[in-house]
Amino acid sequence: MSKQRVLTGITTTGTPHLGNYVGAIRPAVVASRDESVQSFFFLADYHALIKCQDPELVRQSSKEIAATWLALGLDTENAMFYRQSDISEIPELTWILCCNAAKGLMNRAHAYKAAVQANEEAGEDPDFGVTMGLFSYPVLMAADILMFNAGQIPVGRDQIQHVEMARDIAQRFNHNFADVFTLPEAVLEDDVAVLQGLDGRKMSKSYNNTIPLFGSAKQLRKAINKIKTNLLEPGEPKDADDSAVFQIWAAFASADQVAEMRREFENGIAWGEAKKRLFELIDAELSAPRERYQALMDDPGHIEQVLQQGAERAREHSAQLLSKVREAVGISPIS
Ligand code: TRP
Repeated sequence: MSKQRVLTGITTTGTPHLGNYVGAIRPAVVASRDESVQSFFFLADYHALIKCQDPELVRQSSKEIAATWLALGLDTENAMFYRQSDISEIPELTWILCCNAAKGLMNRAHAYKAAVQANEEAGEDPDFGVTMGLFSYPVLMAADILMFNAGQIPVGRDQIQHVEMARDIAQRFNHNFADVFTLPEAVLEDDVAVLQGLDGRKMSKSYNNTIPLFGSAKQLRKAINKIKTNLLEPGEPKDADDSAVFQIWAAFASADQVAEMRREFENGIAWGEAKKRLFELIDAELSAPRERYQALMDDPGHIEQVLQQGAERAREHSAQLLSKVREAVGISPIS
């Protein structure tokens, strides 16, 4: 039996932060080494164009995300690691799927509906500022998934609907033409750690409360010092469960270290001291990858080469699948 295929995309907008690391990158790097599954990880740069019309940002983010994943030890021999835009079969498949995806289904997509609702509330035309890219976003995502016959798609809650749409589109295609697509399933990553940000809310670029993953050690220390705390003095017992400092500690520490820090909180550790230890803990985990990251950022040719090799491997699958799909819909040499 062939291996289970697990696939996930990373939209290339923004610079990776600690929340991305704990929630997505660290578990993915572990998964990349698992020889019992075939994982596919890719830079979703065509998806980035939906949200971001700044070419420099898209370019820079692709470079930073690729360097980050490689620096953290992604196993690119075992897992597939590639850039969406290098797989020309993906946009080709997107078009064919567009011709099989009901517009009514896309009308129900959350991202599109949210944009329409915001327009209505602002008294604008419902489609003001809505591009075909935003509207068709779930079809592109379906092509990413169906292209590689991936069965399992680990996603956050906000993406489940898109995976269900991919499944719907695949089912319809299989029924109308030929049984070419595996029906994908969303695997809800509910147990993945959601890291708190500087203000105690979920760490997220949109809240502007992030700690960059690969800033310098000095920047890391500075950011940690900005984590919100209360006014309790040294010696006064502190509530660990109500503290972002503790919560971030728990994402990096061993079980013993977590228990110990909990006692320290009960014993009234000073905020400054807790933050100092937090910095040391995180820095110990990140300092070696940070150096590799810097070396990679200084050697973009190497990153590009790894991506090209990944694309070459991925295209062995996508070229075959696309030719089946073309054949199924009647696009083939005249004979
Ligand atoms: N849209 C996803 C996000 O914003 C990223 C993504 C693109 C993706 N293609 C995918 C995730 C395919 C899973 C499978 O998070």
